[in-house]
Amino acid sequence: MKQVSLKIESVSKIFKDYKGREIKAVDNISFEVKPGEFVTLLGPSGCGKTTTLRMIAGFEKPTSGRILINDTNVVEIPPWKRDTAMVFQSYGLFPHMNVKENIAYGLKMRKIPKEEINKRVENILKIVGLEGFGDRPPSSLSGGQQQRVALARALVVEPSVLLFDEPLSNLDVLLREQMRVEIKRIQREVGITAIYVTHDRTEALTLSDKIVLMNKGKIEQIGTPEDIYERPASKFAAEFIGKINFFPIEVLEIGKEETTIRLKGKTYKISALPTAKSEKYILGCRPEGLKISKEGPISGKIKTVVYLGNFIEYYIDTEFGEVMIKIVPPFESELVEGSEVKIDIVPDIAKIIPED
Ligand SMILES: Nc1ncnc2c1ncn2[C@@H]1O[C@H](COP(=O)(O)OP(=O)(O)OP(=O)(O)O)[C@@H](O)[C@H]1O
Ligand SMILES: [Mg+2]
Repeated sequence: MKQVSLKIESVSKIFKDYKGREIKAVDNISFEVKPGEFVTLLGPSGCGKTTTLRMIAGFEKPTSGRILINDTNVVEIPPWKRDTAMVFQSYGLFPHMNVKENIAYGLKMRKIPKEEINKRVENILKIVGLEGFGDRPPSSLSGGQQQRVALARALVVEPSVLLFDEPLSNLDVLLREQMRVEIKRIQREVGITAIYVTHDRTEALTLSDKIVLMNKGKIEQIGTPEDIYERPASKFAAEFIGKINFFPIEVLEIGKEETTIRLKGKTYKISALPTAKSEKYILGCRPEGLKISKEGPISGKIKTVVYLGNFIEYYIDTEFGEVMIKIVPPFESELVEGSEVKIDIVPDIAKIIPED
């Protein structure tokens, strides 16, 4: 497998709507994908993910900026000469062809000898876990199996870059989890450079070597899943990547490795620095970063208790709005709906985040 790098340099895309008004779908973004890396474009609906992917594939031309595949600017190169392959949300299989014919289609178009085609199709069927399914029509396959065929069809032409646009959103939850693991395994096995578009944070967290978090056409943060979950650079990033509770704080001192803060009159040493520079900060605590404790400075009343097996979620009304705390079972008998409680933070994993 050829391994290539990809660079997006100051790329923008402006569309015109039906009234001729300009829409900045993608607004001056830059990021890099290393050879063999799995990068996810994550962000809410309309933030420019698909447009970015389509520019990489060549279906859309940037209004400005450069797209480099192995240091060659490809913006003037048509899609079929770009050596990228795309897997869509709707599988887009040809219904009148069986699985093998679907997978072989791109190789036939490239005039590859028949014997070679058969070999490559058999091999890719094995990789995607569909050995023995070659003669079946796509209509006789489950959604997950059809998505595997679509993946095989993209992989079999041995593209340099594999592009995914929300490939799992048509599948039910269980299948989605299974296919998520499969996609990761297959990408690793063939070692291909991959860009994956999703608005699902769990998919982004589990699949990615690197996440490019987008918002309104711009990049909000780039980092590993852990970077973004543990050290979100903005309020938006903190909330988009997972549930979080915010509290107003006074920052007393930013030291070399720790920050002293005051929350409702109680002083804490937080074992982290602010995640980005700002004039004003708030404290961010994930549901696992809070505890119910008599020493806690925040008062609240338990509104709802949700038992999830591996966790219990407590939804608590406080003066700072609803707070959610996740605790490992067993139940504590005094923590029932309606109980008055005190809440404290876990300073080791609290985050100091720019206010806006
Ligand atoms: N061909 C087009 N003409 C005009 N506007 C467009 C066109 N394609 C996309 N847009 C606009 O550009 C913005 C970004 O769209 P894009 O499809 O890239 O979003 P997305 O992040 O993929 O969203 P979703 O998660 O809903 O798929 C949106 O405001 C969209 O309406
Ligand atoms: Mg999209």
